[in-house]
Amino acid sequence: MYKKLIKPILFCIDPEKIHDLIFFLTNLVFKIPFISIIVSKLFSLKNSNLETELFGIKFPNPVGLAAGFDKNAKLFNEFSSFGFGFVEIGTVTPLSQDGNPKKRLFRLTNDDAIINRLGFNNVGVDEVVDRLKSNKNVIIGGNIGKNKKTHMNEANQDYLICFEKLFPYVHYFAINVSSPNTENLRDLQHKESLKNLLQSIQKKNQSYLSPKPVLLKIAPDLSKDELLDIIEVVKETSIDGIIATNTTLSRDNLNSSYDLINQKGGLSGKPLSDKSTAVIKFLHEKSNGSIPIIGVGGIMSPNDAIDKIKAGASLIQLYSGFVYSGPSIVKKINNAILKYRMTQ
Ligand code: FNR
Repeated sequence: MYKKLIKPILFCIDPEKIHDLIFFLTNLVFKIPFISIIVSKLFSLKNSNLETELFGIKFPNPVGLAAGFDKNAKLFNEFSSFGFGFVEIGTVTPLSQDGNPKKRLFRLTNDDAIINRLGFNNVGVDEVVDRLKSNKNVIIGGNIGKNKKTHMNEANQDYLICFEKLFPYVHYFAINVSSPNTENLRDLQHKESLKNLLQSIQKKNQSYLSPKPVLLKIAPDLSKDELLDIIEVVKETSIDGIIATNTTLSRDNLNSSYDLINQKGGLSGKPLSDKSTAVIKFLHEKSNGSIPIIGVGGIMSPNDAIDKIKAGASLIQLYSGFVYSGPSIVKKINNAILKYRMTQ
């Protein structure tokens, strides 16, 4: 129904406007009494064989909503009713910021893909913290970054501010050093700067009675040598895992118009699928399976999700697949994972 009836209507409207409209409507609909129970009954799959324990957190199922969809933690309770086992909010920065000028979000329908150059538009960490106080029972990842105006030399401070403020309200942290839409952010993936950043986060983390799991979100465009460096830094700083991957700068093998393909920003969706799976496989093999991985990038079908798991991911996330296939994809993926697990 979504693909044949709803998507064609939604896809006639500007992508950013439709995103805002979906949020408005979802908020409205969920005000109807018992609607979250009904939605949950329709879309969720509850089964003890889907439960997944990773870095000390018990996830009800391994399928999460990727960062960027609920940047401002507005509707994580509502979106979790669609069957997600966890929701990653953000990327959040210390101060609110508008992001890049519009138009900055593009659908490449001929490729089942999206290009975005939003640039961390968000309401800032204080407002996000206020909203997270309404968390009913959702496992939340806090994806954090730096403000555009913060000089790269002071980037660590921005991450630490967000880390400290979000600490009581999130279950794990995602350190985002891989968005292509904040100038020079990806430089933080280089060995020395990365070590420095993660060490300062871990120092703060260890000052709490119960430290929280810290994960690093990386780009799919890193070379093999750079990925080996990442493994080394992850081990050296004893962080808990990697989220692979963010969007790509590559524009290989696309069928959309020249105008669309040449939009600046990060590409997500189907064309990213194999690339991010290859990164997961490489990290898993080279670390001898010792680093927990959340697999994300181009999961558009249950088979894509199983590919990520076979490559070494323990949990998965989706964004573009949710946009292109609608909410029913979450249950379909969970069903496929359940079947896969039964045969293992
Ligand atoms: C994203 N993504 C993202 N990632 C992140 O760490 N912080 C963010 O703020 C955003 N924002 C964002 C906006 C939009 C419009 C898209 C499409 C994506 C990246 C996202 O979490 C994911 O890593 C990639 O999109 C790849 O997964 P999919 O979309 O192929 O399932």
